[in-house]
Order: sequence, then structure tokens, then C-alpha cells
Amino acid sequence: MKALVYHGPGQRSWDTVPDPTILEQTDAIVRIDTSTICGTDLHILKGDVPTCKPGTILGHEAVGTVVEVGSAVTNIVAGDHVLVSCITSCARCRFCKEGRYGQCTGGGGWIFGHTIDGLQAEFARVPFADTSLYKVPEGLTDEDVLFLADILPTAYEVGVLNGGVQPGDTVAVVGAGPIGLATIMTAQLFTPGHIVAIDLSDARLEKALEVGADSTINNGREDAVAMIMELTNGLGVDVAVEAVGVPDTFELCTEIIRPGGHVANVGVHGHSATLHLETLWIKDITITTGLVDTKTTPQLLKLIQERKLDPSLFATHRFSLSDTEQAYDTFAAAAETHALKVVLTAEPVPALPAHVGAAKAEPAGVS
Ligand SMILES: NC(=O)c1ccc[n+]([C@@H]2O[C@H](COP(=O)([O-])OP(=O)(O)OC[C@H]3O[C@@H](n4cnc5c(N)ncnc54)[C@H](O)[C@@H]3O)[C@@H](O)[C@H]2O)c1
Ligand SMILES: [Zn+2]
Ligand SMILES: [Zn+2]
Repeated sequence: MKALVYHGPGQRSWDTVPDPTILEQTDAIVRIDTSTICGTDLHILKGDVPTCKPGTILGHEAVGTVVEVGSAVTNIVAGDHVLVSCITSCARCRFCKEGRYGQCTGGGGWIFGHTIDGLQAEFARVPFADTSLYKVPEGLTDEDVLFLADILPTAYEVGVLNGGVQPGDTVAVVGAGPIGLATIMTAQLFTPGHIVAIDLSDARLEKALEVGADSTINNGREDAVAMIMELTNGLGVDVAVEAVGVPDTFELCTEIIRPGGHVANVGVHGHSATLHLETLWIKDITITTGLVDTKTTPQLLKLIQERKLDPSLFATHRFSLSDTEQAYDTFAAAAETHALKVVLTAEPVPALPAHVGAAKAEPAGVS
């Protein structure tokens, strides 16, 4: 089969590799119909994630069709249309039993495109298929559910739920990339009073307004702290979500938070940030961190099914799976291309069971 293989920092290629096979009887083999690229894949390519070894197939977000299951798989059968999520769950370890699948110590967690071969490929092996795959309800397209593989549960769990957004709250979302935008989208489930998006890019801030932010601050040319204090009568925001992953934006969140407020860190940090306890010790604030668990995926799926959430606007560009390399170039040059999420679509396979396949023949090329 063909797959996008990481060959060490700065090196990737669309290679011919062996087809995946069932290794454990709890595995399934999934034909990838639709996949996408994450900012974390770019971190890997920069060499920031040394636990991802050269030779690994990248990608941890996909929708596909099950083609084979191991003898111990009871809930999933060949032909099922499934969401393959960034997090895999063994369902048996202490953390999985608490719903903290991201911290799985039984062989799951974030493994695709990290410690095992990933999903930017024609086929993939999915460990713990029964407890890691989600059947896609009839009537939903691949693109309807694709962003449940990572950005929606990440934003909702690590941003909105950890931040404890309440009705009427003033919420600041620092960083309006796919994660920040998904935070703005899912925060509205709690009817906050005001959402302010903060970013350096006007294009991203425009998108933030589209997904439901009430106001924006370009902290490249505006004084974010002064503007937030003006907005909140000098108090600060109730919830600040850090969705960038650099020291400046974490520190900004701790400057704009009101006494008793919550800072929810979502960003992946490569450097230490300063925690200004000399000003924060008296403010009763809560700071949370977290890796997505994807335990809210069924809940978010229901909201998409009921058309209460519409993640389709995250898809800005479409490519054929065989043009994954070109898709990486477009995604990595987001400042010029304004890419948010690029959708990679496999050629349809007419031989697959009738209810899957045919509807997914998206036109190839940049939209
Ligand atoms: N915790 C988790 O489980 C988890 C899961 C997925 C992604 N992440 C992380 O979430 C973060 C956001 O992901 P993304 O895909 O949206 O990233 P992205 O790079 O697409 O977006 C980041 C945004 O931050 C803006 N930005 C950069 N520097 C800024 C600054 N100084 N001030 C204000 N805005 C600034 C950029 O203009 C961009 O719009 C990343 O660090 C990513 O690795 C965390
Ligand atoms: Zn990701
Ligand atoms: Zn586990």
C-alpha cells in the first residue's frame, strides 16, 4: 500500500510499504477513506517528538471502512463505517476505567502516527478495535465526523470542560487555530456571555467571528491585557483557554484571568513558561493541563448528528490521499494558504459493501 512515512526531522515521503496485518486478535484493519493532517504532525516533522521514530507512518485522524477484524473483536465487523480517533483505549487499565483514555497504560493512548503506524495511509491496523472505533451513524458523511478524531474533543475536554465554562461567563481563547476555533465553537454549548478570541493573524480572527466569537483582539498590534480589563471592568476573564503552546500566551492567560477564574492550557509546550506566583498566589485561580481523552466523542457525535454542531467549516482544502505531500505543503504554509484543516480523500472502491464507499468520491485538488 501507499503511506506517508516520517524519515526523521524534515523528511517525509509517500512510500510503498507493506499492507498492515492483524497482530493481536483485538485488532481491526481499516481502509482509510478520509484523513487529515494535525499541527502535531508538523511538530513531529520538526523533530519535537522524539518518541516518534523514523519509519513511522504519520497521521492520527481518519474515517474509514473496516476490512478485517481479529477473532476477539465482537462489536465491529467488516464493512462498518468507522471514525478512527487519535486516542486508543485498552478499556482495562486504571486510567481507561476512569475515562482517561489519553493516559492508557495498557498499550493505548495516543499511539497512531506516534508509537505505531498512523492513518495517512491506504490501510491501517487499529488496536483494541472494540473500544477504540466509533461507528458512523447513517446519514453522516466522512467530513461530518472527521474532526471528532482530534480537534473537537480536544477543544471541548481540555479547553471548555477543564476551564469550567458557565452560562454568562466571559471566555478568552488565546490562539485561533483549529483548536482555538473548536474551543470557541464548543464553549457556546454552555452559553457564555462573551467570547473574545486573541491571535496574531487577522485571517484567523475573522474565522473566530464566523464560529461564534463576540469580539477579537490582535495581540500583535493591540494591548490584549488593557483591552480585556476594559471589557471586564478591570476584573479579568472567567475562563482563559491557552490554545497556542508558547510561554507568552500561557503567561498572557495568567495575566487576564479574574480572581477565582480558570486557566485551561491546551497548547503543547516545548519550552518552560514562567508562573508568576508573586501576583497569582492571592487570586484563587485554577490552572489545568491535559491530553485529550476523547471520552466526549459520543456526546459530540450526537450533537453533530442533531446538527447542533457543524464542524464542516474547518475543512478549507481538499486533496486526494495520493497527494498527501502536497497537502502537507499547503497545511504547513497556513499563513499564506489560510489552511485550517486539509481533507485527504481516498479513491472510492466500488467493490466494498454498498452502504460505504460511493458517497465519498470528493473531487481531488485544492478547493
Ligand atoms: N492538549 C492536547 O491534547 C492537544 C491536542 C491537539 C493539539 N494540541 C495543541 O494545541 C495547540 C493549538 O493547535 P492548533 O492546531 O490550533 O495550532 P495552530 O498552530 O494551527 O494555531 C495556533 C494559533 O496561535 C496563533 N498564535 C501563535 N503565536 C501567538 C501569540 N503569541 N499570540 C496569539 N496567538 C498566537 C497562530 O496565529 C495560530 O492561529 C498546539 O500547541 C497543539 O499542539 C493539544
Ligand atoms: Zn492531532
Ligand atoms: Zn487503558
